[in-house]
Amino acid sequence: MTSLILYATKTGATEQCAKILSEALPDSTLCNIQIDKPNIEKFDYIILGAGVRDGKIYKPIRDFIKKNQNELLNKQMGYYICNEKPKKTEEIIEQNIPADLKKAAICIESFGGYKAYAAPKEGADQLKGIFVDRIKSFSEHFK
Ligand SMILES: Cc1cc2nc3c(=O)[nH]c(=O)nc-3n(C[C@H](O)[C@H](O)[C@H](O)COP(=O)(O)O)c2cc1C
Repeated sequence: MTSLILYATKTGATEQCAKILSEALPDSTLCNIQIDKPNIEKFDYIILGAGVRDGKIYKPIRDFIKKNQNELLNKQMGYYICNEKPKKTEEIIEQNIPADLKKAAICIESFGGYKAYAAPKEGADQLKGIFVDRIKSFSEHFK
């Protein structure tokens, strides 16, 4: 089974998670939506990942969901967000993933994220605030 991991990041947490996820999934393709626009047709699984600001997932992923909603409904989908406030996670998912896509999803998860304005500097631990065990458990659904 092939997977596409399509993500948008600003400070890097979502990209770190995408890389760990891709290492856990044997036949996966990593794609930064801010750089590439892949053809989703050829993949069995589509995993969308985005960081969150002010309660909203990043716009390129928001727009992608809006534009491809019908096609995504016929795909086996996973979603993850990177955010710092666990108490807000349910609300963010509710407000950013359309109800029909949410219902049809295989898995939706928050992998944690960096504190606002405290993304790790170069050389520091890039996984600070990220729940790697959740990424591993999430990946089990896409094998
Ligand atoms: C301006 C700003 C606003 C943020 N708003 C939220 C928020 O509403 N809820 C939340 O849980 N995290 C919020 N965060 C934390 C980010 O979601 C977190 O830093 C995450 O790692 C961002 O993903 P990225 O590193 O892939 O860009 C915010 C961070 C910044 C800098």
